[in-house]
Amino acid sequence: MSAATTRWTPSSWHDLPAQQLPEYPDADQLKQVLERIAAQPPLVFAGEARDLTEQLARVSRGEAFLLQGGDCAETFDAAGADITRDKLKVILQMAIVLTYGAQMPIVKVGRIAGQMAKPRSSPTEVVDGVEMPSYKGDAVNGLAPILENRIPDPTRLERMYHHSASTLNLVRAFTQGGFADLQRVHAWNQEFVAGSPQGQRYEQVAQEIDRALNFMRAIGLDIDRQPTFNTVDVFTSHEALLLDYEEAMTRQDSLTGDWYDCSAHMLWIGERTRQLDGAHMHFLSGVHNPIGCKVGPTMTPDELLEVCDLLNPDNVPGRLTLISRMGVDAIEEVLPPLLTATREGGRNVVWVCDPCHGNTITSESGYKTRRFDDVLGEIRGFFAAHTTAGTVPGGVHMELTGEDVTECLGGDQNIADLDLAQRYETACDPRLNNAQSLELAFQVAEMLRS
Ligand code: PEP
Ligand code: CO
Repeated sequence: MSAATTRWTPSSWHDLPAQQLPEYPDADQLKQVLERIAAQPPLVFAGEARDLTEQLARVSRGEAFLLQGGDCAETFDAAGADITRDKLKVILQMAIVLTYGAQMPIVKVGRIAGQMAKPRSSPTEVVDGVEMPSYKGDAVNGLAPILENRIPDPTRLERMYHHSASTLNLVRAFTQGGFADLQRVHAWNQEFVAGSPQGQRYEQVAQEIDRALNFMRAIGLDIDRQPTFNTVDVFTSHEALLLDYEEAMTRQDSLTGDWYDCSAHMLWIGERTRQLDGAHMHFLSGVHNPIGCKVGPTMTPDELLEVCDLLNPDNVPGRLTLISRMGVDAIEEVLPPLLTATREGGRNVVWVCDPCHGNTITSESGYKTRRFDDVLGEIRGFFAAHTTAGTVPGGVHMELTGEDVTECLGGDQNIADLDLAQRYETACDPRLNNAQSLELAFQVAEMLRS
């Protein structure tokens, strides 16, 4: 049996080999939790997922640009409104900078409201001489290095559902309820950034936008009543790692009869679970949401075409986003042949750049970190590769936060190795902080302009 030949149902993935799934000690308990989740309302609707597919189709044609970003791993205790609000603020700010700079619509997708399960390179780790399972995200086990806490607990899946529901409720309220009104563009600049060079640069853009809005008001446009001016669409996404949960959230659309994974608008397959004959590929091949697939440096052109045919057999524009994560040193060599393969093979895909996961290093002081310059350098390499291959650079996929953390090196603030200890707060990979994210957006806007 293989991923391509197995007849698809929401549960057919069970017949295929699956990497990275937790081993739960109590199968009955897991079953009961999954039954309860399956009886809950969907988090997103099929029509919303179709809307995102259409917007991504525009991205594939170079008519819009995708900004996908958020935490490496969301946590249960970060459930308060502030962190979600701050993350939205920085995504809205980046989107404004990109829209204004590139004069192009920006499709906004958060790594948010469900990004809580992590694949790990090693299943166990040794802490203070005790070997224990690695942390696999709050949806699986606890971060604190205590043996019992690291045993996979199925009730965490139910907590993830409820946590995702409350986060998504906030996202919907913030984006539709006035917070995202263009007339509040200044209010997205947080106090701790406002005085920085990036914050000041942002203020200048915000002032230009004020002038444009005043002009529109002056010629008689009623911008208070136009949804274009006072609401935005922010879609949700996460890595579809925990197939039991994704299966429980998968529902048949009453309108089309198609299956949708209603845990998020967009789901992606990680670099460690993208085996052509594996359960993850098979599961996502059957749901009709827009799908992403990470593409790392070991991918070959032939394998990539098989990925496209498995995940998007009807070659629907916007259905498949390929998320390149090569590392700054490899990208200009390994990406162009892959771009050429999709172009010459006539495969409709969105190409986006994840400049984070190929550039993770351990600093001298022992922190898992990334250099701002490497992140930016990989995006530059991504644009250069598309110029070489004659393809469309469709967007960026970022690990970032709206908080003032010190997790990545460099940027205008010149964060050094010894500064990392100050506010290193991530549960998993290092995130660009608010100022670094804004700085990156200005640089990417310039790349898009030229
Ligand atoms: C991630 O996006 O957090 C991740 C684990 O990425 P990758 O699968 O590309 O390593
Ligand atoms: Co990560």
